[in-house]
Amino acid sequence: MSDATALAPVVLSDRINAMQESQTIAMAKKARELAAQGVDVISLSFGEPDFQTPQYIKDAAKKALDDGFTFYTPVPGYPDLRQAICDKFKRDNNLDYKPENIVVSTGAKQSLANAVLSLVNPGDEVIVFSPYWVSYEEMVKLAEGTTVQLIGSLENDFKVTAQELEAAITPRTKLIMYSSPCNPTGAVFSREELGAIAEVVSRNPQVYVLADEIYEYINFVGEHVSIAQFEEIKDRVITVNGFSKGYAMTGWRVGYLAASKEIACACEKMQSQITSGTCAMTQRAALAALQGGRSSADEMVEAYRRRRDMVLELVKDIPGFRTPTPSGAFYIFPDVTGYFGKTTPTGEVINSAMDLALYMLNDGHVAAVDGAAFGAPNCIRFSTAAADEKLREAFIRIKNSLAKLV
Ligand SMILES: Cc1ncc(COP(=O)(O)O)c(C=O)c1O
Repeated sequence: MSDATALAPVVLSDRINAMQESQTIAMAKKARELAAQGVDVISLSFGEPDFQTPQYIKDAAKKALDDGFTFYTPVPGYPDLRQAICDKFKRDNNLDYKPENIVVSTGAKQSLANAVLSLVNPGDEVIVFSPYWVSYEEMVKLAEGTTVQLIGSLENDFKVTAQELEAAITPRTKLIMYSSPCNPTGAVFSREELGAIAEVVSRNPQVYVLADEIYEYINFVGEHVSIAQFEEIKDRVITVNGFSKGYAMTGWRVGYLAASKEIACACEKMQSQITSGTCAMTQRAALAALQGGRSSADEMVEAYRRRRDMVLELVKDIPGFRTPTPSGAFYIFPDVTGYFGKTTPTGEVINSAMDLALYMLNDGHVAAVDGAAFGAPNCIRFSTAAADEKLREAFIRIKNSLAKLV
């Protein structure tokens, strides 16, 4: 190889150059750098349960290895796992699916990507209810679609209304994406709200709905509603769910979607060319998780509820935070505009939520994520999936740091 060749810069694709690094991961990286310098950083930036995966699920994975589950798996998942997912949809959501409607993937993230890449053509508009989960916009970009952010108001707990949706739909609208319970806001759509949205969708036959229900079990208001329950649009709904949050299985990488047979087949085709079927022993563990019901999730939810209530009490003492009460998931998402224009002890002016998040990291040593990553540049996301003492300490530090702003 000549020197000239060795020094030639790598020309990366426009596709990858246009893509942003995940902001949640970027903030966690900064927090780790500080921690490596010996600073005691409390990280509330990650969307990850702090619980171990329940033992019965781990045992199933160990047994799977001993039983020889080490080979390639069917692309859409083992038939018994797909059947168990259908049983789960019936039990929890009163939805009838057959295994042919189910595609198991390497995390709900891949299920979402499969659906977007299978449905969206260049130039198609994808309405994303905002604030939204960080990866939605980048997935739409990858499909060369156009994201239309539809912003829910703080007064309505950041939830988009059916009227707002109706006004945003154009002949180019192909897909609507949202999560409920929502990451980052914790908002949960009610049956009435989703019914009204379904009614708008039913009048726009070119529009599909990608409903991300990964936080289904982490719900403090009780009723979880799947928009696929509205029969008139069921065939145009892709429901995504998984094991990462409800069963504390983030590292196992398994999620799934339910859709019409045509869409499920398309997602299977996409997956067959990119990753194939997901990990064999993970699938056996996922099957055991479902067979064990949801009692382990219910125990974790009680802890998340206690922490949410504790954190909401603590933030009452922070005058510049406007924090809607989350109905699910494990985040709080305050509007922090009350601090814009204030000056830090070292003379920097806080002009954005990013400035404030960096100040809290550098001064209070608490890491959180700037809301811009979620389409909400006036907000900051704090994960409440941390031990009670850590949360208490974190919000005392934040309060003290913010009190120094003038
Ligand atoms: C709203 C939302 N959807 C999907 C995912 C991805 O889940 P998984 O770990 O199953 O890929 C996450 C993870 O943080 C999430 O918050």
